Amino acid sequence: MKGTDLTLEPVSGAIGAWVRGYELGVGASPDTSARLQRALAERGVLFFDFGRVPDFGEFFEFAGMFGKVQGEFGQEIRDRKQPATPFIDSSVTPMKPFRINHWHADGGPLPVPPRAAILAAHEVPETGGDTMWASMVAAYDALSPHLQRMLDGMRIVNNNRRTGFLEPREHIHPAVVVNPVTGRKCLFVDPNYTAGFVDVPEAESDALLRFLFEHINTPEFHVRLRWKPGYCAVWHQQVTKHRGVADFTGPRKLQRLTVDGEPLLGATQ
Ligand SMILES: [Fe+2]
Repeated sequence: MKGTDLTLEPVSGAIGAWVRGYELGVGASPDTSARLQRALAERGVLFFDFGRVPDFGEFFEFAGMFGKVQGEFGQEIRDRKQPATPFIDSSVTPMKPFRINHWHADGGPLPVPPRAAILAAHEVPETGGDTMWASMVAAYDALSPHLQRMLDGMRIVNNNRRTGFLEPREHIHPAVVVNPVTGRKCLFVDPNYTAGFVDVPEAESDALLRFLFEHINTPEFHVRLRWKPGYCAVWHQQVTKHRGVADFTGPRKLQRLTVDGEPLLGATQ
């Protein structure tokens, strides 16, 4: 990244980069923040090695480089020393019952989903418990121009009936969204939240969704992080889907913050 002491190391072909040179607690200039936000939109997920577990103040400051920080899904943080919903904790929300191990973007059924999520590892299993991300830009680009054109004009119903653990929510979104930073189109369907296409008969809708959910599984779209305490991941909710890997026992605690999103821009708007 030119002009700063931060460097970007891409991880896989389509998605992910390690950011080297960020020091916890040093603060960041608006210029650094702008560069990181650009890198986030381009690579989908950024990884940082803090070298140690951050305290909440440091973590909050770090998250602020990516936008307006919230707790979970628009929940305001009233006390920066004691966040209301601080952790993804496997003893509270185990992966399988909560479908954390299925592809999704957080807040998909909300009218304005968050832009980014930021996780910092506090306690991780000795083996397993990785997180995977899939590039929805790569997923869209790999479709035929015929299917791209069709999906560009379609809308989806997103709800949380399958996950079921949050207040019931439902919202209609574009099937393809345009990232406002890069202008790239991102496939926006996922198997946790997308219930169907608007104005499409159920049999057609189900068949197309089955194909797209399978399409997201293509390894060339993916990157995977083996967590260590002090590792941090920041991901863009429009550009990527993510999932945990439910192959571990024992505690897994990751501190989490969310950054406010903007209204989604459809491909044909
Ligand atoms: Fe998630």
